[in-house]
Amino acid sequence: MTQKKRILFVCLGNICRSPAAETIFKATADAAKLPVIVDSAGSSGWHEGEPADGRMRHSAKQRGYIITSHSRPFEMLDFNRFDLIVAMDDQNFDNLRNQAVTLEDKEKIVRMADFFIHQKMDHIPDPYYGGTDGFNLVIDLLEDASIGLLNHLTKKEI
Ligand code: 4NP
Repeated sequence: MTQKKRILFVCLGNICRSPAAETIFKATADAAKLPVIVDSAGSSGWHEGEPADGRMRHSAKQRGYIITSHSRPFEMLDFNRFDLIVAMDDQNFDNLRNQAVTLEDKEKIVRMADFFIHQKMDHIPDPYYGGTDGFNLVIDLLEDASIGLLNHLTKKEI
């Protein structure tokens, strides 16, 4: 039997984009009956222990997603714990690549925007300093990329 894929989503604060990515991707995988283990982490530890930003939780809830995770910083052990490490933007991607020691670890790091199907952006924009539209856009982008990521994982298993 194929082992469950373990996927970690990473953004800067781990209170907006990556907790939403974790939640939306899990819902997408569950709907497709693909067994996965998901988690999220921050490139920074600025918000360690905090629940996701209330604005992110609100936007997500309006679309049917309940975000329950608490912020934690990325740590080196995560390279062993996960099969795929998905960065929300280039800053997080570069930060993770700089921490990776082995080629195997480097190859685990990808960008969420790599999995867009319909969306044309090249990253998941940080909504923290903006308004409600930014949080809703994050959900739109993550829903699209989650389907792309699911397709990617399913193809790999064949
Ligand atoms: P996230 O958003 O990386 O999507 O969780 C941010 C959260 C907090 C900060 C920046 C971005 N901050 O500057 O505290």
